[in-house]
Amino acid sequence: MSGVSRTAIWKTIEQLREEGYKILAQPHEGYRLVGIPDRLTREELSWNLQTERVGKRIHAYETTDSTMDIAHRLAQSGEPEGCVVVAEGQRKGRGRLHRSWLSPKGKGIYASVLLRPAVPLSQVPLVTLMAAVAVARAIQSKTPLRPEIKWPNDVMLHGGKVAGILTELNAELNRVNYVILGIGINANASKSSLPAQATSLAEEVGHRIDRVDLARTLLTELDRSYSQFLNHGSDSILEAWRGFALFLGRRIRVAAQDRTVDGQAMDIDSSGALLVRTDAGLVESVAAGEVLVVR
Ligand code: BTN
Repeated sequence: MSGVSRTAIWKTIEQLREEGYKILAQPHEGYRLVGIPDRLTREELSWNLQTERVGKRIHAYETTDSTMDIAHRLAQSGEPEGCVVVAEGQRKGRGRLHRSWLSPKGKGIYASVLLRPAVPLSQVPLVTLMAAVAVARAIQSKTPLRPEIKWPNDVMLHGGKVAGILTELNAELNRVNYVILGIGINANASKSSLPAQATSLAEEVGHRIDRVDLARTLLTELDRSYSQFLNHGSDSILEAWRGFALFLGRRIRVAAQDRTVDGQAMDIDSSGALLVRTDAGLVESVAAGEVLVVR
């Protein structure tokens, strides 16, 4: 017997049980861990996480306004890249194009990841595409589903949006100080609690999703894709993105910042912009916007 008293062990076990761990006491054998809580804690997320950068530091919150705000504060106080902020729920989750992101407690994965890529500003959209690829890969590896990416970075299942990525950055002229990737995945939310065009993994697979397992896979995939991007450049990311692309070859309408473009979605270029062949036969490059209609 070690120098730890039975009472001390029992107290620790009780504390873990209160935190949601399921522990069986087996006569003459000791204790056996049979279940972990459905909570994205730092301990669970970082346990045996084999990554180079992403998730080396994890800040986990119960409820916050937005994980983006915390990540910005950490970035400005000099936190190293790869640090992750997660929350069980968000009061003011934000999405792209000034929309909000519904973040009910315990139902999704809400994470912001701080990166400090030494790339020109023009390459930042690729970092966003890289994140969409990582989300799609994580979903693919943990479910029998085949996710698709709607340009630029909505992750879709059977036509419903299951995950989204918001990129916020701090830069000067042509120097990126830092990028924050905000990732929201609808994991166990019911369809009735989600916006009309959205879905969740649980709705699509028909059972609850292990959020801890999915979040750990997401961090691993992000780390892998980010290393791929840093070491081998954009080509590998673009190639992977095309493999998940939803409507290349189809007729689309895309709302760009200052115009609407109708035509056939051809491809994405080396900066991540969408190339659309218009009816006039011109190829237009759309750097940012939203695909409205697919025919
Ligand atoms: C989108 O509009 O598709 C992007 C949604 C991004 C939501 C995530 S949830 C974690 C992070 N915190 C936020 O407030 N937003 C992002």
